[in-house]
Amino acid sequence: MMVFRRFTAGILVPALALACGVVMSGTALAQMVTPLVIANPTKPAAPKAGGSGGPVVAATFTQAQSNRGADTYTQNCVACHGPNLNDGEFGGPPLIGTEFDQKYFNQTADTLYGFMSAAMPPDRPGQLTPQAYADIEAYIMSRNGVQPGTTELPSNLTTLATLTLKQ
Ligand code: HEC
Repeated sequence: MMVFRRFTAGILVPALALACGVVMSGTALAQMVTPLVIANPTKPAAPKAGGSGGPVVAATFTQAQSNRGADTYTQNCVACHGPNLNDGEFGGPPLIGTEFDQKYFNQTADTLYGFMSAAMPPDRPGQLTPQAYADIEAYIMSRNGVQPGTTELPSNLTTLATLTLKQ
């Protein structure tokens, strides 16, 4: 298993660097690779971040996930939050821009996920699937200027708490 994992990482790192087409620092690469490692079901659960000072790495999502999120957002959220995320007709606050960024992008990814899955949409809070809330979060990240990567944003709160929205 160890041999397999080391072998996988050896392939992943250059593959990621190639896929991104940019020169990345070792730290940035580590930040991209770590979520893949966390997603590995054979690995023990990642330690909880936050006050305990656990590791926090940048959250990633894929273009396909963001596209799914856009569809789900259009079906469930657009009336109140708007097609541009700041132009809803029914009183939803902006989900884009400086104020929103300051509120959520300094937090780990579970904060935004937690609010959405607990309170949105207001007429049936929590009634979308966990995957749908993660997809919408990916879409919101994308609309707030975060570039897609090679790993989907997970829908597990414990894992989300180890990922920061700030890139
Ligand atoms: C019926 C109108 C309505 C719909 C539909 C709706 N929202 Fe909201 N949303 C609101 C209102 C009003 C608030 C502010 C109230 C609050 O913060 O509790 C809000 C707040 C939010 C916030 C917090 C914004 C902040 O600044 O903290 C997020 C994130 C959010 N909505 C996401 C969604 C998502 C995702 C969907 C679709 C799954 C959705 N909303 C559907 C009306 C709506």
